[in-house]
Amino acid sequence: MHNDQAAGLRAMRSARQAEGPQQAATQPKGKKVKKDKPVRVLAVASGKGGVGKTNVSVNLGVALSKMGNRVLLMDADMSLANVDVMLGLQTQYNLSHVLDGEKTLKDVMVDAPGGLKVIPAASGVKRMAQLTPAENAGIINAFDEIDGLLDVLLIDTAAGIADSVVSFCRAAQEVVVVVTDEPASMTDAYALIKVLSRDYELTRFQLLANMAKSEKHGKMLYDKFSQVCEQFLDVRIQYLGTIPFDTDLRESVQKQTPVTLAKPMSESAKAFRDLAQKISSWPVPTGVTGYLQFFVERLFQAKAD
Ligand SMILES: Nc1ncnc2c1ncn2[C@@H]1O[C@H](COP(=O)(O)OP(=O)(O)OP(=O)(O)O)[C@@H](O)[C@H]1O
Ligand SMILES: [Mg+2]
Repeated sequence: MHNDQAAGLRAMRSARQAEGPQQAATQPKGKKVKKDKPVRVLAVASGKGGVGKTNVSVNLGVALSKMGNRVLLMDADMSLANVDVMLGLQTQYNLSHVLDGEKTLKDVMVDAPGGLKVIPAASGVKRMAQLTPAENAGIINAFDEIDGLLDVLLIDTAAGIADSVVSFCRAAQEVVVVVTDEPASMTDAYALIKVLSRDYELTRFQLLANMAKSEKHGKMLYDKFSQVCEQFLDVRIQYLGTIPFDTDLRESVQKQTPVTLAKPMSESAKAFRDLAQKISSWPVPTGVTGYLQFFVERLFQAKAD
C-alpha cells in the first residue's frame, strides 16, 4: 500500500477511535433503535489462560455495581474455574436454554453477591458463534428484552483465540486485555490483538496489567507491550490500569467470594475500585453502538467484510 494512503487510513481510524466505538457505527438493518440508556459493553480477554480474566470481570463488576451501575456479567468461558465458582453460585439454567427457546435471558440471569447479575456459561457460548438464522433472531429478541435494564455488560471470555472469543471481542465496545509479566502472557496477548486487528479491524485495546509488583511495574509492562504492538500492528493500546499481586485475592478465590467483598481494604480491591472509577468516567457511548441491539448484531456478523 502507498505510504500516504496508509497514513490516510490511519487518520480515518484515529478519527473513528476518538468517537468512541470500535467500528464505524451503522444502524442495525431493519432495527428500530430504542431510546433506552446506552449500555457499556466490555469484553475481558487475554490470549493466555490463568492470568486473571475471571477475577478482573467479577471484581470490576462488583466495584461498578457498588458505584450504582446495573451490571450484567456474562460468562463466556466454559472452563472449570468460571464465574459461578468464583461467586459461589448454584445455577440451573444458562445461555443454551435461551437458544433452545426454553427460557428468556431474564429467566437465566442469576443474582450474585455484590449486586451483580450473571448469565452462567454453557455450551451455548460455543453455539453463539454458529447460530442458525432462527436462533440468531431469537437471541436478538432475547437481548432486546433486557435493554434498558443495564448500564454495563461485562463479558468474561475464554483463554485462546476461539471463534467465540473473537465474536465477543469484536461485538464489544472495548476489549480489556489482561497481561502479566510473563513472556507467554505477552506473546499470547499480542497474537490475540494481531488477529482482532488484522482480520476484524479492531484498532483500540485497553491494557490491564495483573499480578504486578507495583503500579510502576504495571506501567512498565504497558510501555513494553504497547511499543511492540504499535510498531508492528495498526492498533492503539491504552493503559487501563494495574492490579497488584495480592495474597488476599488468592484467599478470597478459595472462599469463593470476590476480593472486593471479602477484603474491601486489600490492595487489589482498591485497584479494582480505581478501575471502576476510571471506566465510569469514560464518555457515555453514543450512537447505535451504545445499544444492546448493536452488540448482538455484531456478535453474529461474519468475518470483516
Ligand atoms: N492480582 C492477583 N494477585 C494474586 N493472584 C491472582 C491475581 N489475579 C489472579 N490471581 C490468581 O490467578 C488465578 C487465576 O485467575 P483467573 O481464574 O481469574 O484467571 P483466568 O484468566 O480467568 O483463567 P482462565 O484462562 O482459566 O479462565 C486465581 O485463582 C488467583 O489465584
Ligand atoms: Mg477465567
